[in-house]
Amino acid sequence: MTDLPPPDRAVVLAALETVRDPKSGRGLVAAGLVQALVLRPGRAGFMLEVAPSDAGAYAPVRDAAEAALKGVAGVEQAQVVLTTTTEPSGQGAARPDEPPQAPGTVRVRRGARLSNEAQAQMQPQQAPGAMRPAHVRHVVAVASGKGGVGKSTVAVNLAAAMALLGRRVGLLDADVYGPSAPRMTGVEAEPEMTADKKLKPPEAWGLKIMSIGLLVDDAAPMIWRGPMASSALNQMLNDVAWGGEAEPLDVLVIDMPPGTGDIQLTLAQRVALSGAVVVSTPQEVALIDVRRGVSMFEKTRVPILGVIENMAYFADPATGAQIPIFGHGGAKATAETLGAPFLGEIPIDIALRQSCDDGRPYVVENQTTPTGQAFLTMASAVLEAIEAGEGMKPAPAIVFED
Ligand SMILES: Nc1ncnc2c1ncn2[C@@H]1O[C@H](COP(=O)(O)OP(=O)(O)OP(=O)(O)O)[C@@H](O)[C@H]1O
Ligand SMILES: [Mg+2]
Repeated sequence: MTDLPPPDRAVVLAALETVRDPKSGRGLVAAGLVQALVLRPGRAGFMLEVAPSDAGAYAPVRDAAEAALKGVAGVEQAQVVLTTTTEPSGQGAARPDEPPQAPGTVRVRRGARLSNEAQAQMQPQQAPGAMRPAHVRHVVAVASGKGGVGKSTVAVNLAAAMALLGRRVGLLDADVYGPSAPRMTGVEAEPEMTADKKLKPPEAWGLKIMSIGLLVDDAAPMIWRGPMASSALNQMLNDVAWGGEAEPLDVLVIDMPPGTGDIQLTLAQRVALSGAVVVSTPQEVALIDVRRGVSMFEKTRVPILGVIENMAYFADPATGAQIPIFGHGGAKATAETLGAPFLGEIPIDIALRQSCDDGRPYVVENQTTPTGQAFLTMASAVLEAIEAGEGMKPAPAIVFED
């Protein structure tokens, strides 16, 4: 969007050091209060993490830090998120005596504030310790080791295809740092609260949809620290009315954030997943990450339902010839090496990209094209695997060389 370089880190830190920490009397940097510093062209932001009892006292510090950032050359927008420390990990729910969030902590739209009863409503399932949200039959994760391979595109269209195949389907956008479900489905409605204080997911294209993008103001930065991100995710899983007793959800499709970091691992460990679908492009660099993704699920005993090759080729509009822009067939070969099923390939398709940008899941309006057919075939294979209970088997042991 812009060719400007990001603001200079040293200058930014020097500016922040001029703001005093009222407790220690030191500059914010020396006091260790500048965390998750994000520098982008025209923008700077960080997380100011304080004890819950200090949240109110630090609101002016946050304002002063924002003003200091705005004084740095190249910073037009400054965002400092005041956040409070939580219990050490292992304590699922927040303490009942924890003071309410200070104003301006994390901006959540009115009426849509998430509650703190993270694990409470979960139901036990097969794997010890792993849970499944209430009234949801199957949870399927769509993951990739590498970012930008088309995971969200696949998740949205697989979910929509499952709905076309007659299932009750939910789509959970678990990418709290870069949510894409609102853009890809065109849903912007703020979720309403149900009588029993759950969030009612907006519905479109036959899907129940939940994303942090529906809860947090657009302007709020997506620079959550790990435990906050995990807690937001827990709540989007468990404090959302995905299904009712009479109408349980058949499948909840989770669009995972890219990579195999803490959030992904937590999700793979804590949620009783019926299985995972791994998306890759044919490039070698993406395929290396497929191994990591598969390995993570294998270690957490989540069955791999299959690997999908996205952007497999480009069909020449004049001749129909398949042009392998990023190479071709690598994901299939990798799946075979790993002993995971190969679910199929999706071509590079301009109409698919366009429909993503327009907020209209491609498959809903294009069921007979090769791309639409590919999504429907894959969705049906995934349904068959999870509904036959095949997805419940532990994945075969795989040995990795890297
Ligand atoms: N088969 C395809 N043909 C054309 N464009 C595609 C295809 N798959 C994905 N895209 C486009 O590529 C871009 C990245 O896709 P997407 O956001 O789905 O990737 P992602 O893996 O979810 O990324 P992230 O890692 O950031 O979450 C989007 O603009 C999307 O429209
Ligand atoms: Mg994505």
